[in-house]
Amino acid sequence: MATDLLHRQLPDITTWRYLPAPAAARRHRIQLHWNGTALGYHARGSHQVVPVAGCPVAADALSAAIPRLLEAIREKILPQRPQRWELATGTPEGHVVAIDEKGHVWLLEPDGWHQDDSEMSEAFDAFILRHRAGGFFQVSPAWAVTAFRTVLEGWKLQGNALFDLYGGVGLFSALLGKRFRRRVLVEYDIAAVEWAKKNLDQLELPSECIASDTGKWLPENLGGSEDVILLDPPRSGLEPEVSMKLLTAKAGTLVLVGCDGAAFCRDIQRLSSAWKLTELAVLDLFPLTHHVEFVGLLKKV
Ligand SMILES: C[S@@+](CC[C@H](N)C(=O)[O-])C[C@H]1O[C@@H](n2cnc3c(N)ncnc32)[C@H](O)[C@@H]1O
Repeated sequence: MATDLLHRQLPDITTWRYLPAPAAARRHRIQLHWNGTALGYHARGSHQVVPVAGCPVAADALSAAIPRLLEAIREKILPQRPQRWELATGTPEGHVVAIDEKGHVWLLEPDGWHQDDSEMSEAFDAFILRHRAGGFFQVSPAWAVTAFRTVLEGWKLQGNALFDLYGGVGLFSALLGKRFRRRVLVEYDIAAVEWAKKNLDQLELPSECIASDTGKWLPENLGGSEDVILLDPPRSGLEPEVSMKLLTAKAGTLVLVGCDGAAFCRDIQRLSSAWKLTELAVLDLFPLTHHVEFVGLLKKV
């Protein structure tokens, strides 16, 4: 699927690096739907709920929590109204929380679900990142860090300033750490920005963490030749205003990350008058599904 898309949308690109997920990689976040009688996933292209008792793409602790969630909803221990539920885990994997659509959080303990407001944390070999339950985090975190590190270090990404745009709680700033003299992170979720600041301070990586819409913050002529602009937007890709301003940027290198292939290719095309795609990687970051992550290295034309 990715190959077809790339051949059609970016015909000049003939080679890319593909990183398959290791057999053990599993999701740390899943979204389920409760319709008043059943708890499960939506059937493809519909809102019909297909009940599930477990989930092979999820971490074992999450899969085992599905029947516990169903039981607690049925017994009116958790809210009964039809809605979407998120189950999430972190490090250690046994720490499982359920989050309802209003953002209320319950922690699964041996005797059942308890309301909870503690943070989630993900520990990697070189750093720990904390974030709020229900906030964005990579779905298969340890594998995502390994894959991004392999690709970005392979591209020898380093320099003066790293502009970590759509930066979440600081994953790329932490991952690239001291390869940059300074970091500027922009993210519009205020809670995520606060966590980014704490996460990067703890790693002794002084960073300017800015709570803003990327399009509003992004100035014309951003950066200098030793700087890197890294963009990891949501599925919809870059807003037209962002692509337009990037055409004027003075940074020497741009990295674009995208989980939707069509949006990623569209953005590469929109940037092409100023930025040439020189390297491409396709990462199997959503294990056991057909979804993949695209990462492109672009240099000033
Ligand atoms: C795909 S996530 C990437 C987060 C981070 N780079 C990571 O890997 O953990 C996209 C992030 O962009 C944020 N976001 C979405 N639209 C935004 C916008 N217009 N301006 C700034 N941040 C935005 C979301 O809150 C989310 O944290």
